[in-house]
Amino acid sequence: MVSDDAPPGYRPGSLRKMFQGVSDEYDLLNRLLTFGLDRRWRTKATTSCLEDSPEAILDLCCGTGDLLFTIQRRGHDRSTVLGLDFTEAMIGRASMAAGRSKPLVLADAGHLPFRGESFDCVAIAFSFRNLLYKNPAIGTYLAEVLRILRPGGHFVIVETSQPESEVLRGIYHAYLRTIVPFVGGAASGSKSAYAYLSKSATNFPAPEEVATVLRGAGFSDVSFEPLLLGMVGIHKATK
Ligand SMILES: C[S@@+](CC[C@H](N)C(=O)[O-])C[C@H]1O[C@@H](n2cnc3c(N)ncnc32)[C@H](O)[C@@H]1O
Repeated sequence: MVSDDAPPGYRPGSLRKMFQGVSDEYDLLNRLLTFGLDRRWRTKATTSCLEDSPEAILDLCCGTGDLLFTIQRRGHDRSTVLGLDFTEAMIGRASMAAGRSKPLVLADAGHLPFRGESFDCVAIAFSFRNLLYKNPAIGTYLAEVLRILRPGGHFVIVETSQPESEVLRGIYHAYLRTIVPFVGGAASGSKSAYAYLSKSATNFPAPEEVATVLRGAGFSDVSFEPLLLGMVGIHKATK
């Protein structure tokens, strides 16, 4: 039995409902709460993703499409990039920004509607937390990513992380517990969504624990690049 105060990952449908409710303010709040640095982090993830000149890239849990569009701009015509998300309102915003080309798929990360070995890179920005944090379906999501990656293909994850320094971690967690739910809740009207962000980021596993999960699922060559003193970072793994 799942209790009502369980994190959204435990309640099918509740994550989707949560993102449905914050889609209007989502991009603006990302800029505000990260002081505009989120764009730079997605650009870093894009560089990592484009390293081996991939032909086909999936932006998994693409939301409003920020990573997808960054990859498209940087990859020029060399790469085909698709975005996938299960929240209509989020992907609807991506769709508006995409104009006539509609590289977007509405689907759940647990059932990817693609043939095996169709992508050279699967990238995910600030959504891996939703798939991993207290989410019992993480094994299914990782098996799906492995299935659709070609041998030698990469899984690139840009996500909040845990700074090694205890002092810094304390300051960072204080910011996550106070400013994030207050500003996010007030601006979006959804206190619970930003309380969830605060809780999931504060309790998100350290890089070595994430690496253990990725290796356990069957990935190899797992690495981590810290950003902003380890508050954020890029995990990279190979099929
Ligand atoms: C925090 S947002 C990140 C969006 C975007 N990647 C970005 O960089 O801003 C998380 C996104 O993950 C999506 N999501 C969460 N769980 C999902 C799942 N199981 N399948 C597909 N999308 C999912 C949500 O709908 C939401 O759009």
